[in-house]
Amino acid sequence: MGERWTPKSWRHLPIEQVPAYPDTAALGAVESQIASFPPLVFAGEARKLKAALARVSAGQAFLLQGGDCAESFDEHSADNIRDFFRVFLQMAMVLTFAGGSPVVKVGRIAGQFAKPRSSPTETLEGVSLPSYRGDIVNGIGFSEEARIPDPRRQLEAYRQSAATLNLLRAFATGGYANLENAHRWMLGFVKDSPQSSRYQDVAGRMTDALDFMRAIGINPETHPEVRTTDFYTSHEALLLGYEEALTRVDSTTGDWYATSGHMLWIGDRTRQPDHAHVEYARGIRNPIGLKCGPSMKADGLIRLIDLLNPENEPGRLSLICRFGADKVGEHLPALIRAVEREGRTVVWICDPMHGNTVAAGRYKTRPFERVMQEIEGFFGVHRAEGTIAGGIHLEMTGKDVTECTGGARALTADDLQDRYHTYCDPRLNAEQALEVAFRTAELVKAERSHVEAPRLDAAE
Ligand code: PEP
Ligand code: CO
Repeated sequence: MGERWTPKSWRHLPIEQVPAYPDTAALGAVESQIASFPPLVFAGEARKLKAALARVSAGQAFLLQGGDCAESFDEHSADNIRDFFRVFLQMAMVLTFAGGSPVVKVGRIAGQFAKPRSSPTETLEGVSLPSYRGDIVNGIGFSEEARIPDPRRQLEAYRQSAATLNLLRAFATGGYANLENAHRWMLGFVKDSPQSSRYQDVAGRMTDALDFMRAIGINPETHPEVRTTDFYTSHEALLLGYEEALTRVDSTTGDWYATSGHMLWIGDRTRQPDHAHVEYARGIRNPIGLKCGPSMKADGLIRLIDLLNPENEPGRLSLICRFGADKVGEHLPALIRAVEREGRTVVWICDPMHGNTVAAGRYKTRPFERVMQEIEGFFGVHRAEGTIAGGIHLEMTGKDVTECTGGARALTADDLQDRYHTYCDPRLNAEQALEVAFRTAELVKAERSHVEAPRLDAAE
């Protein structure tokens, strides 16, 4: 790997998961066009997220990251964005209150369009076609034509990301995100849940706290902190030509930032230390995530940390662990011990989705209890090692889909066909996502009772 980094230095290196664009001149023209577009986020926001993640690494805040496995062009609507944001806010509220910890909110949204695939082709009834690689690359339809990578899709991904981000910013700061709304929605969830009694206690205490706040004059009209929230975006930095086109110099510091989203992560299939994706990520100053699956070994991880966070800057690097419910106990301790031994500061995040995918007939699904088991296992390992379980990373939607089995409504494999809408991996539906939040809040609370309480000025 060369010492000198530029936004395009990745181009000289080996690379995985690249789409075979038939018309490279058209691809180049689109990339130039995107390079002339305004940035979607600005460097100061990415720095603010990095500072918030530094507090997560110190146990003074908790990270909630989540959204679709793959955003799609067809499902882009105000209703979908609103429903996602509404559930996400409720989850954050539950985690803040029951977990007793400020929550850093990061969506897998406004840019999560490119998908790595385990196989370059997909075969259906004897016909083999190139795999679907996300709406930013090709179409999901099973036809030769749909599967041809089309660079113009990058323009649509940029447009959709901008529109989504615009609405999210409006929701986050325009009053929709106010605490009393989130509380009212959450009460609706608790009332309707078959597990109602389990959540009643926390919900009741939240109501008391809000009543008290109102009584002493703290309400959305008088206090902007009760009315607005910080919300950040993230996605996998997979399609590097698109990322390069949106990589810009921050005029205040002279540093390079990815401006396609606040936080970018490197996927489990593209984290080879001498390959293109790691090269790209090492030069941008945004907070970076690194997926760690079962093939990640301790020495390989330290080498990647050397490349991605040589200055050991707190909040710069999050390790998004996705081993599987039955493997977290086997793999996580060695990684934690290596990081501790080397004195590296990282944020430990649990992705309980990608190691728990199973087949159910013609569907891919994830059993809710396996998702919970991986989260519990993750917290258990951190408790044993004396380190901080920093956050969770979920594939989820605000809609009432039937993609993951289990949860309070005990969805079965037979129910999957009802509303299986995902463009890639199965997502938790709104109720299942909230259940994860309630149950994770109990774990955060138990963990944080051993950690120094967060100072008030650390509140998000
Ligand atoms: C994802 O987050 O959708 C994904 C593909 O994850 P991983 O790289 O961990 O397999
Ligand atoms: Co996924």
